[in-house]
Amino acid sequence: MYYRVSGGKGRVNMDPANEDNSTGNYRIAHISDLHVGSPHFEPALLDKVILEINEFRPDIVVVCGDITDDGFKQEYEAAKAYLERLECSCKIVTPGNHDSRNVGYVHFEDLFGPRNSVMYLPGLTLVALDSSEPDLDEGRLGRQNYRWIIEKLSRADDFKIVVLHHHLIPIPGTGRERNIIEDAGDFLELLANHGIDLVLCGHKHVPHEWQFEGFCIVNAGTVSSRKVRGYATQCYNMIELTPEQCTVRRKFPAGEEVEVVSFPVHKKT
Ligand SMILES: [Fe+2]
Ligand SMILES: [Fe+2]
Repeated sequence: MYYRVSGGKGRVNMDPANEDNSTGNYRIAHISDLHVGSPHFEPALLDKVILEINEFRPDIVVVCGDITDDGFKQEYEAAKAYLERLECSCKIVTPGNHDSRNVGYVHFEDLFGPRNSVMYLPGLTLVALDSSEPDLDEGRLGRQNYRWIIEKLSRADDFKIVVLHHHLIPIPGTGRERNIIEDAGDFLELLANHGIDLVLCGHKHVPHEWQFEGFCIVNAGTVSSRKVRGYATQCYNMIELTPEQCTVRRKFPAGEEVEVVSFPVHKKT
């Protein structure tokens, strides 16, 4: 169920079923870079991951873009059919550079709603942002959008998660750096100044975690594309958030699960 913010850029998305979750405990599945429609897309991997995520019983599923390969309508429809098999009523989907190819952002809006959205749950704010630019691989958030973003991050006591496709800091093991978001410096300063706890990204098909300035940036690898770099393999993240601790585990489809970062939740009052 969606509640639109009057005068806002995106939507406020709340699931009334979860409004009773006053314990501040959340399980979040974080997947990215499905690339449905690509010759490198591996359906069996995504089928397996859907089963694993449903066993994890997440409260929230975050999808960090590149759900399609070329932004075509039929790719979007196929990707949505996969995502609908995830048994979770709170899903946050943000577009990637591949989704904005061929004016694919119109299909994104038709099937998933506004490209920028906010979800407020008890003790938790999630802001999802479109960092893509039509037909470009590099991304930007745009300084003209900062006021809207800051406004949506106003619940001071919440654990705050920002979701976008592109990486904000270069990722080791990904070769020449070419498409970090153009305004990464200014946006990182915004995050540091507004009490962000966690940033979830994708894009490079290589998983990685950075911790600095009091927050953590977690990049998911690709969940179902065979286009990987070096020794990286397909994977996704399972995040467990309590009022005291946030723990991120990397899960390999049909394989092992490893804890990659765990940090205390800072009390903000
Ligand atoms: Fe991708
Ligand atoms: Fe991408």
